[in-house]
Amino acid sequence: MEEIIRNAAPAAEEPKKIILSGIQPSGIITIGNYIGAVRNWAAMQEEYDCVYCVADLHSITVRQDPATLRRRIYETLAIYMACGLDPEKNVLFVQSMVPAHAQLGWVLDCYTMFGELSRMTQFKDKSKKYEQNINAGLFTYPALMAADILLYQADLVPVGIDQKQHVELARDIANRFNQIYGDTFTIPEPYMPKVGAKIMSLAEPTKKMSKSDENANATVAVMDTKDDIIRKFKRAVTDSGSEVRYGEGKDGVNNLMAIYSAFTGKDMDAIADEFAGKGYGDFKLAVGETVADALAPAREKYEALMKDKAYLESVMKDGAERAAYRARKTLSKVYRKVGFVQPK
Ligand code: TYM
Repeated sequence: MEEIIRNAAPAAEEPKKIILSGIQPSGIITIGNYIGAVRNWAAMQEEYDCVYCVADLHSITVRQDPATLRRRIYETLAIYMACGLDPEKNVLFVQSMVPAHAQLGWVLDCYTMFGELSRMTQFKDKSKKYEQNINAGLFTYPALMAADILLYQADLVPVGIDQKQHVELARDIANRFNQIYGDTFTIPEPYMPKVGAKIMSLAEPTKKMSKSDENANATVAVMDTKDDIIRKFKRAVTDSGSEVRYGEGKDGVNNLMAIYSAFTGKDMDAIADEFAGKGYGDFKLAVGETVADALAPAREKYEALMKDKAYLESVMKDGAERAAYRARKTLSKVYRKVGFVQPK
């Protein structure tokens, strides 16, 4: 990751590149979200102009219990901050507090094709999973995500692999709009970590680790206790072999190696050497302890933040104002271009 960050770093005199990303508050934040997204955001805050949202509008494409959703919005913001995102250096905000997202989302719906949305793998997967609730929002969700990105004229969008297709669609929508109306949107690029862009379930290592997984042993939450983290790694599904080595047919071990690599910076060969002659048991324990220890400071900070709702709300309010100011500029440009009246 460090390498990609260095390569993409702007020269000192250039304006800072703009970064936009977000996480849905639709479940516990997992180490997949952490490795694939949040920790990379924290690494970018010095060199880039960063805007990060809690993507609550996206969450209601799947039914949510209102009280739980409300709690998770606070939790997600607290996790951002506990993982090192400074609300002064970054714009941290809650999507539903900035009306321009829904407003541009609607406009972009009208520039996004039915065929494009039908090809989105996440839509196909989620419509299988939530057969009883294949609502219009679930279908048009990528256009709202494009609005999130394009409102801030983002250059880079740091995401895990599962969101790459949506960022590519945002590029297509932006290009289409620019072709019709002239230069309006910056064309964003997806930005993925080299290791850990797709962390797999600990229970079914051929499946992505997902915060909405009902099996508690499949996921490790960033805020799980040390004991829970170690227990979950001890139970992680591997294979009938015993050699810690990256290879075909070893999905469980490959995944644990990727997690270990993400937290230690060691490459796969170095990890194989470290555990040569040791069994999976020792390896799993080492991964569990490494992850738990690495996350311990964030957990402490998170607990303190969650006790101070008033402070979290002040961050939300300030972030929403700063985000809205920037978003409004793009939205009024778009409104003017499509022919809406925008009195001065
Ligand atoms: P979401 O909430 O599903 O996931 C948040 C981020 O975590 C990454 N991620 C993973 N990375 C590695 N391994 C995994 N197992 C894993 N699971 C999730 C995701 O790729 C993502 O980067 N639609 C988005 C949220 C969103 C957004 C945006 C993202 C809304 N607006 C604008 C970027 C830009 C989503 O549902 O992510």
